[in-house]
Amino acid sequence: MLLLDGREVSKQIIMSLKEEIEEYQKKGLRKPSLAVILVGEDPASKIYVRRKREASEKVGINSICINLPSSISQEDLVQEIKRLNDDDSIDGILVQLPLPTHIDTGEVIQAIKPDKDVDGFHPENVGRLATGIGRGIVPCTPLGIWLLLKHYKIDAFGKDVVIVGASNIVGKPMSLVFLKDERATVTVCHKNTRDLKSHTSQADILVVAVGKPKLITRDMVKEGSVVIDVGINRLENGKIVGDVDFENVKDKVYAITPVPGGVGPMTVVSLLVNTLHLYRLKHGFPPHLFAQI
Ligand code: GUN
Repeated sequence: MLLLDGREVSKQIIMSLKEEIEEYQKKGLRKPSLAVILVGEDPASKIYVRRKREASEKVGINSICINLPSSISQEDLVQEIKRLNDDDSIDGILVQLPLPTHIDTGEVIQAIKPDKDVDGFHPENVGRLATGIGRGIVPCTPLGIWLLLKHYKIDAFGKDVVIVGASNIVGKPMSLVFLKDERATVTVCHKNTRDLKSHTSQADILVVAVGKPKLITRDMVKEGSVVIDVGINRLENGKIVGDVDFENVKDKVYAITPVPGGVGPMTVVSLLVNTLHLYRLKHGFPPHLFAQI
């Protein structure tokens, strides 16, 4: 079994991004910069935002973290985003999700200027990705998975790809990545799928992004397949596990991502790639190679 080591691959990409930013600085250009908005005190969100900051600093991206109280009004949050939209020194804006329930997430995402939408969640960028018209931004988790597969020379062409989970953050954009240029045959399963196993057991490449420990058991995967586990679940004993029963599945498949250390680090690295991509476009450079799918 081949372990798809996101920690190692992300380290390699981080090194190359660091060198790239050093080159910009030699040319006298300013540092790329990323604004991260965190609303409230959700512990998981705080950890994710901290990881994003640490990684940004490692490569030389200027990261600005804006902590706002969970009681903030929709209007004030949108005002904050508009201020960042108009700030020429900011290349990317990320609003950490989920937002408190009194906030309309869709409205907040739409307030981000599409040219600064580093997550690729704005409907304009999603539409670009879906149609191939214009230059979209690939959301970070699907881009990270794509880069991981590319690193290990796993080609999706002509394969049967099954994605479990249809979220706007992972499942839906992941399906668009595999559908681009009619590469793969894509099935998206979700909570109303009647017979999950009948789909997952046919998958050459299986991507699972649900948030349920051991949802995918040995009998549900195809022999020799590639399994990508996006889940991050904390068990009662404090252990972090994915959505796939890793121990029982691992010797049936060709390749699998561990949790932690698989998709997670690749998502963070993709955020840096997307920040640099937006920075490059702003400076009239060609798109970033790693941001292309
Ligand atoms: N919450 C979980 N994943 C993500 C992500 O990729 N971007 C943002 N903004 N919030 C998230």
